[in-house]
Amino acid sequence: MSLALHIVVLAAGGGSRMKSARPKVLQKLAGKSMLAHVLAAAESLNPAKIHIVYGHLGAQVRAEISQPDEARAASVEPSNLSINWVEQDVQAGTGDAVRRVMPDIPDGVRVMVLYGDSPALSPETLATLLLQTGFAVLISHVDAPAGLGRVALDANNRVLAIVEAKDATPDQLMIQAVNTGVLLADSAELRGWLQRLTPNNQQREYYLTQIFEFAALDGQAAQAVFTSDAFEGFGANDAWELAQLERYLQSRQLKKLCQNDGLRVSDPARVDLRCSSIEIGRDVELDVNVILEGSVRFGDEVKIGPFSRVRNCDLAAGTEVLGHCDLDGVRTTGACRIGPFARLRPGTVLAEGTHIGNFVETKKANLGRASKANHLSYLGDVEIGANVNIGAGTITCNYDGVNKSTTHIGDGVFIGSNSALVAPVSIGENATIGAGSVITKDAPPAELTLSRTRQFSLPNWKRPQKRSK
Ligand code: UD1
Ligand code: CA
Repeated sequence: MSLALHIVVLAAGGGSRMKSARPKVLQKLAGKSMLAHVLAAAESLNPAKIHIVYGHLGAQVRAEISQPDEARAASVEPSNLSINWVEQDVQAGTGDAVRRVMPDIPDGVRVMVLYGDSPALSPETLATLLLQTGFAVLISHVDAPAGLGRVALDANNRVLAIVEAKDATPDQLMIQAVNTGVLLADSAELRGWLQRLTPNNQQREYYLTQIFEFAALDGQAAQAVFTSDAFEGFGANDAWELAQLERYLQSRQLKKLCQNDGLRVSDPARVDLRCSSIEIGRDVELDVNVILEGSVRFGDEVKIGPFSRVRNCDLAAGTEVLGHCDLDGVRTTGACRIGPFARLRPGTVLAEGTHIGNFVETKKANLGRASKANHLSYLGDVEIGANVNIGAGTITCNYDGVNKSTTHIGDGVFIGSNSALVAPVSIGENATIGAGSVITKDAPPAELTLSRTRQFSLPNWKRPQKRSK
């Protein structure tokens, strides 16, 4: 039987190199915070407990992780694993951070340490580390490791020491094996090594990495396990590293969708995936410069045109979104056509065969089968039946400055162009509204209703003439 696993996530650091008012571990990558990425990977390992060390702007970190935003809700919420929050009031180093958690960890379990600013480690790689039975550490091969900790290895990939770049000799700086920060250790052994830490280094901090020296001295040198690529263990310390990680994480996710689900993209470099969750059917196509955000579900053969953003949407099979659309909180229940240049806001529900055309804005709008609003409309707080034609320029006046009211439009209605429907108001089935009407009272079914002044002409009228001097 394998020993219980306790995961310690370090998230107390200041992150001054990020030059941001937000704590480093809450910086967003591909739609969710770095810490949420790390926690998702941690939870995938089914640990007995997750401990988070928090400190710098800790209240903000706790609040955001405990009361998840929609991104986290959709990605890592299913687990009911409780988190043990441990405060590190002064950030005295990664070793000090782990030491503070040890009173909450019993002897006889395994401890995995993860850094809250290393969001790219895949669950698969972490699972490989778990295959180790003794003390082990994840390391990466990096061509130009800059500020990362260098790992001195023996011929059997056993760790002799880990030296921080700031403390390294020129020879040690040449080493390309670097510390990802992820380690796995027996809890009692870890406790012993942590008690021996000294701040004898350039930063006067208690480095977690010093324990590798102690382990080697004790004849328990850690086994080094390599990540699948250099980027995986990469920690983002500044905005530039964050931007590079964003690309890496997005392209890794895109590749998975292409390989596992057959997603078709016109250009992998011109798609942005910032999803907390994404589920797609077969033959889904994304044109260039598409942005997907939040929780996204596409049925078979959904097509998204160029320069469109789709956020928190559930689009049924066959839905086609043409170029330059902005969709937020939209659900389609059958194949329909949207855009180009449409803005669909939360609460929009479109049935099969509907068309939403250019410069149409919808909000809390329910359109029945085969109903169409092809040009220049605002449809807000509206229930629209089937086979309705909404003429160009139609506006639902849903807001009187204080209250929002609903417009009901029955099946088969034809709304003439440039009509204003002043809510609350109902248009009966098969009614026709004459173009240019302002409708303030319910319109009866099957009749023509209009509210514009009659047209008249002045037969003897002369257009004023300019006088020549
Ligand atoms: C650390 C490692 C380095 C490794 C690199 C990988 C040490 C001493 N160095 O360096 O070997 O190559 O990560 O990315 O461990 N933190 C706390 N409390 C503290 C200090 C830090 O919780 O007192 C947290 C930070 O929030 C961060 C993580 O620990 O999530 C790593 O700290 P950071 O200062 O970023 O260490 P690096 O200099 O990147
Ligand atoms: Ca770091």
